[in-house]
Amino acid sequence: MMEHLFSPYNIKGLELKNRIVMPPMCQYSVENKDGIATDWHYLHYVNRAIGGAGFIIIEMTDVQPDGRISDYDLGLWSDEQIPALARIVEGCHRYGAKIAIQIGHTGRKAEHISEPVAPSAIPFNEHSKIPRALSTEEVKEMVEMFRKSIQRAVKAGFDAIELHGAHGYLIHQFHSPLTNKREDEYGRDLTKFGREIIEAAKSEMPEDMPLIMRISAKEYVEGGYGINESIEFAKEYQKAGVDMFDVSSGGEGPIGSRGRPGTHAAYQLPLAREIKEALHVPVIAVGRLDDPVLANAVIGNEEANLVAVGRGMLRNPHWALEAAATLQKETEVPKQYVDGFRRLIDIKR
Ligand SMILES: Cc1cc2nc3c(=O)[nH]c(=O)nc-3n(C[C@H](O)[C@H](O)[C@H](O)COP(=O)(O)O)c2cc1C
Repeated sequence: MMEHLFSPYNIKGLELKNRIVMPPMCQYSVENKDGIATDWHYLHYVNRAIGGAGFIIIEMTDVQPDGRISDYDLGLWSDEQIPALARIVEGCHRYGAKIAIQIGHTGRKAEHISEPVAPSAIPFNEHSKIPRALSTEEVKEMVEMFRKSIQRAVKAGFDAIELHGAHGYLIHQFHSPLTNKREDEYGRDLTKFGREIIEAAKSEMPEDMPLIMRISAKEYVEGGYGINESIEFAKEYQKAGVDMFDVSSGGEGPIGSRGRPGTHAAYQLPLAREIKEALHVPVIAVGRLDDPVLANAVIGNEEANLVAVGRGMLRNPHWALEAAATLQKETEVPKQYVDGFRRLIDIKR
């Protein structure tokens, strides 16, 4: 049978009611610089569960205070940060969504500290601070920080983990030849850092919990890598244990003449499709897919397994319910909101 946006989807033990994903989006809404989720985060995420999204991925959550973009980012470097996240997990589950968390480290893109760290002492652009290159020992400690954060995420009850390997953050900085000029084992082998994090993650996660990795499948700076190179490094990550890729692009530095990220609908979809075909791996497509007819076609044409809608869900927490009405697909509407959708539901009948 033809699959569509409201077909259920299973990957390992993760059972989703539809193909609609809320992708990670930083809210910069921590109140006391303590990395702890607030009522804003609870309301923001649980509202998207009420609004019908099948899968919610919490924004980039950092493994260390210095790994934050700003002082207002979420963190998982302490057990004290677990309960507020566990509450969000429970809320999303109550309203029928499954939930993951994006674990990451900003590396050289940290904006609030005097000395960010990176694989090599190369700044993001001419206005940013020159980062300090991590020692080999510190790189190994960093892998352990990822491990501990993932252990805490599992304790909080998440259904899946996403590693942030995109947008020019630390894992991306290690696998990009532009930002990793190291001479040690982590420079001779550009994916070693990412692979060790994947292996550490898998050792902390239950057997049936999927590991997702977000990658930038293409860089936009002069001399950056393209899809052929990202297929190769993604294969190594897949071998190390990644179950699904969330395919984004860019973020590594000032945009060069090589090309700009598109602003048209589905601008990153060809990248997702290529990764899916080359690796025979499930993928999440993202980037201006907020027209329900288009999102539905992505699934029907088997270009991606899941579709993420970011800015569309910032505008409209009930994006998924309205998409069901537009596409005339069955979906559960919270009983409190049935009146709001009744006319549309009647049309369906
Ligand atoms: C406010 C905002 C915050 C974001 N924060 C993150 C983040 O924490 N991690 C990440 O991987 N992508 C982040 N993104 C990128 C989105 O996940 C998504 O890939 C992007 O917005 C393109 O999808 P869209 O066209 O549906 O919005 C952010 C985007 C926005 C608009």
